[in-house]
Amino acid sequence: MRYSKSDLAINGGPKAKTTKNIPMYPGGLEIGEEEKKEVMEVLESKYLFRYYGPAEMPSKVKKLEEEYAEYLQVKHALAVNSCTSALITGLIAVGVEPGDEVIVPAYTFFASIAAVVAAKAVPVIAEVDKSLTIDPDDIERKITDRTKALMPVHMRGMPAKMDRIMGIAGRHNLKVVEDAAQANGGSFKGKKLGSFGDIGAFSLQYHKIITSGEGGIIATNNDLYYTRAQAYHDVAACWRKDRFAPPEYPGEIFFGVNFRMSELTGAVALAQFRKLESILKRMRENKRRIKDAVSDIKGIEFRETNDAEGDTAVALIFYLPELNTVETFINALIAEGIEADGIYNRGVPDWHVYHHWVILHNKMMPAKKGCPFNCPLTEPRPEYDPNACPATKDLLGRSVHIDIPPQLTPEDCDQIAEGIRKAASILL
Ligand SMILES: Cc1ncc(COP(=O)(O)O)c(C=O)c1O
Repeated sequence: MRYSKSDLAINGGPKAKTTKNIPMYPGGLEIGEEEKKEVMEVLESKYLFRYYGPAEMPSKVKKLEEEYAEYLQVKHALAVNSCTSALITGLIAVGVEPGDEVIVPAYTFFASIAAVVAAKAVPVIAEVDKSLTIDPDDIERKITDRTKALMPVHMRGMPAKMDRIMGIAGRHNLKVVEDAAQANGGSFKGKKLGSFGDIGAFSLQYHKIITSGEGGIIATNNDLYYTRAQAYHDVAACWRKDRFAPPEYPGEIFFGVNFRMSELTGAVALAQFRKLESILKRMRENKRRIKDAVSDIKGIEFRETNDAEGDTAVALIFYLPELNTVETFINALIAEGIEADGIYNRGVPDWHVYHHWVILHNKMMPAKKGCPFNCPLTEPRPEYDPNACPATKDLLGRSVHIDIPPQLTPEDCDQIAEGIRKAASILL
């Protein structure tokens, strides 16, 4: 079909998408009887705390960990209260120390950076490539003799290039803490995300693929890291199997914090976890249907796919050739009834983009003294130039982002595709 200018909804034409918009709460919108049943079991037994209660109850949190570990094919999973907590705990578990450097991508939620700073380490920012995940070439350029760990982020559900990243880590003897907050259930070359690195960290926050409102999971194959993570997340592992026994490994027991998951959260997370595969299947089908319908359009370049099978398919992202057409293109899609957005700059600074991380640029800490920014271990002080990642800025600036909820119908998908085709045929 050929369109003319007046067909565009922004110019008064009919909307391509007339069906109701569905918000991006993939698991949240699926909450139903299964979650209620799990939660009611906790309430009826009054067993709200993992380690004790008035009745003998199998712990929901423990069950969640067992099912997650089995699914990821890892030795250990540890449930915590958020992915930020999982990342902090993971960094500490693998032995990141004050003043160490951790390489993180310039496109991630600010929580990844905050976790490095909470572990008193220095975030070193690397560019992302066309997959919008960390660029392995830039990792190599950013490695120094202070680098201790890499934190690849499976951003917007896309697996990072884990083969190259693990290769770099091996050659330079670096730890890997995978931020899989946005990529629950994703994989790379057949292996589950979060199971490549020394530690994998997942989020169960409300916007994520599955959710318990808040929550996180740590995954590891390493017994010592698991024990250290237990110690840190639970005030020196007060509840470990024999809390007065001497440590089994050196460096196993130390001061910690309380990042424990409650049984109510565990109950919701358990029911959600059992829906993960169904949610992924529907998002993948929807993304494929939209992408196939627009793949011949000239002038749009899809985000690079590191592994099409393993992509969780939470979003369709494509680049326009010119930065200055993005705003008009997105406004045209919105007028068509499609909830499209840019990534870099749409009025509100996006907390996922390095260039907007003023707290990092200005090293805004709660105290005047201490690592990583005000301590002798990190001399000379790290500096953060907001313009330091031009490749990331260019890609994000030219990006158009469309969420892919699992609840989309084939009709929704076809209408989204038609809206993209309409806008592209007139505006590009
Ligand atoms: C990439 C990334 N890392 C970490 C986090 C932090 O997760 P949480 O909110 O569970 O602490 C998020 C959450 O938005 C995220 O998107």
